[in-house]
Amino acid sequence: MTDGNLLTDHPALYEARFPDPDRLAGRWAEDCLRRHGAGPRVLDMGCGTGRDAARLHRAGRTVTGADLSEAMLAHARTHHPGPAYIRADLRGFDLRELGGAAFDAVVCLDSSLLYCHTNDQLDGFLGSCRRALAPGGLLVAEMRNGAYFLGRTDLLDRPSGNTFAWQGVAHRSTTTLTVDRTAQLLRRTRVWTRDDGSPPVAQHSAWRLLFPHELRHFLTAHGFEVLELHDGPGPRTEPPWRDGRLPGTATDADRLHLVARLHTH
Ligand SMILES: C[S@@+](CC[C@H](N)C(=O)[O-])C[C@H]1O[C@@H](n2cnc3c(N)ncnc32)[C@H](O)[C@@H]1O
Repeated sequence: MTDGNLLTDHPALYEARFPDPDRLAGRWAEDCLRRHGAGPRVLDMGCGTGRDAARLHRAGRTVTGADLSEAMLAHARTHHPGPAYIRADLRGFDLRELGGAAFDAVVCLDSSLLYCHTNDQLDGFLGSCRRALAPGGLLVAEMRNGAYFLGRTDLLDRPSGNTFAWQGVAHRSTTTLTVDRTAQLLRRTRVWTRDDGSPPVAQHSAWRLLFPHELRHFLTAHGFEVLELHDGPGPRTEPPWRDGRLPGTATDADRLHLVARLHTH
């Protein structure tokens, strides 16, 4: 068995495994930006394959997509053109070469924010957003909800399987989620097997288990006002968000949706 990150190394496989044909995530982000009157310049942090950045570009925004993975960035430039794509680490970035306060909004989708595992990394992300944003700029994020795991084990400790075909090869993944209470992380082990004779690949990922009030506290400390913080509807909820559906107020279900505004002074 080898270690690796099959999905970030193979962005087309990522899109095949997690299809979003209606571009729900990008449309939801655009809806948040529009409802709160954001200006046109958007930074998509953890942009991955670039499909959400490109959706925002098509909505008329001037978009920069940023990711740590060169493979993702190369895929984004080829398959989802329009935005500028740059390499940056969301746990601490300095985009002053693009000009100070260069953005009207930072978007951070599909739990990318939760790659900030420690409090210092969360401070790094929010401090960087603050430097990148114009006064009154927005932060729009969508992620797992740490509070969901309080008293619920339905997603934990038992392997779940998935099989799909990609380029004529059957790909099987077995995924197990566990809670690391000391590190306050949700850890995922995913083992991929393919029917082409290649050895299994084990992939290890982790996300911060961030609680809604904890997130509020971080945001306030970094000069943001929380405008929305709720568990849906959103692009990855059941039922999913649809055009015109307004945000809820609870923070109980498994996804969190955030809109925050940087204070103007
Ligand atoms: C789950 S994908 C989300 C992709 C995209 N936002 C979406 O919703 O389809 C997470 C992305 O975050 C990127 N990533 C992981 N750690 C990162 C970091 N420290 N800084 C920037 N990007 C990171 C990965 O390379 C991957 O492309």
